[in-house]
Amino acid sequence: MTTTIEKGLTMGMDEATARAAELDARYIMQTYGTRTTMFTRGEGARLYDAAGTEYLDFLSGIAVCPLGHADPDVTAAIREQAGKILQTSNYFLAEHRGQVAKRLSDLAGGDAYGWRTFFSNSGAEANECAMKVARRVGVARHGEGCQTIVVLRGSFHGRTMETLAATSQDWLQSPFQPLPQGFRSVDRNDVAQLDAAMGPDVCAIMMEPIQGESGVWVLSDEYLRHARELADRHGALLIFDEVQTGLFRCGRPFAFQTVEGAGPNGVVPDVFTVAKGIASGVPCAACVARGDAATVLTPGQQGSTFGGGPLAMAAADATLEKAVRLGLDANAARVGAYLRDQLATVPYVTDVRGKGLMVGASITGRDAHDVVSDLLTRFHVVANACNGEVLRFLPSLIIGTAEVDELVAALRGVA
Ligand SMILES: Cc1ncc(COP(=O)(O)O)c(C=O)c1O
Repeated sequence: MTTTIEKGLTMGMDEATARAAELDARYIMQTYGTRTTMFTRGEGARLYDAAGTEYLDFLSGIAVCPLGHADPDVTAAIREQAGKILQTSNYFLAEHRGQVAKRLSDLAGGDAYGWRTFFSNSGAEANECAMKVARRVGVARHGEGCQTIVVLRGSFHGRTMETLAATSQDWLQSPFQPLPQGFRSVDRNDVAQLDAAMGPDVCAIMMEPIQGESGVWVLSDEYLRHARELADRHGALLIFDEVQTGLFRCGRPFAFQTVEGAGPNGVVPDVFTVAKGIASGVPCAACVARGDAATVLTPGQQGSTFGGGPLAMAAADATLEKAVRLGLDANAARVGAYLRDQLATVPYVTDVRGKGLMVGASITGRDAHDVVSDLLTRFHVVANACNGEVLRFLPSLIIGTAEVDELVAALRGVA
């Protein structure tokens, strides 16, 4: 009988990759489909497989590596921290924790807002925290029964049961019923539906400023401004899930700051969440809140063994410091505009959306999954498909126009 490893070798895999594929197929829950490529090294916007083949990375770990792979300063900070101490628990202070929270506060407009942060390990966990905050604020402000969270169809907030309940996409939710209750869904960018969804039971409106997973759908500035006014009028919280949009990707530190006509800091939410790129790939996430949302959770109401731990905080501190120093938001705005312009010239691209370096392209005449697979195997370019119709590009924020030209040439070459 042919083993998977032998099959892998006949498919052209090197031995290390074939071995990894065999173990993956036998011992890993198959929730990601079959995987046949393994990267063993990265540098900047480039990835290398075990055989040394170079790839151009337009995914960056799904929006995770703002400074590219193996950034020397972040690597040094991780090495130093790993050699000192990895875990002490949240019963104790940690060297970089307060500094990272201060950096988030500074990036979100500074001390005038009174931002406070709770650290966890993933975007879903950060959103769990935001929803716990919302439920407590709702009850504190309006009494028992004020616990409904309004969410948008096509949202993605995570895969824990509660964040799945907030993820208004039937194909993701239906296998896991019954889900936690207390959510009301409305269509994105529909002001009238949002108005109609509000009531005395609503403690929060929660949304991604750009819906990432479902196809890179940008919420209009008008809609975001309206959501802010509506939340204020009803005494509800406005929660922005900036897990994918946040931390320089959309051309400002946070996507809410790109909204025009709402003051210099944009449409400021009561609570926002970030994760992904905050610590360059070391698991780390943050729920950041102001006003009564910043103080409503009391000791014992929220916690995490690993959240805010020394390693993640050292990596986040180094990542945020360097991202600001290099002006990655400005680079994302500049290169992102060029990327969108260039994508629009690809013959099978019908629509280009996004802000900064969070970009989606609707295509026609081919399946986006086939395009991604062709890009990877024939052109050694890593990209992503949200679904069969939409290509998504989430590169590291250090890329330049030369990398965009390389990507676009590959896209033109796709059969
Ligand atoms: C907008 C948004 N929220 C939440 C999540 C969940 O993050 P995580 O996978 O770190 O739990 C994601 C992940 O893609 C996301 O894009």
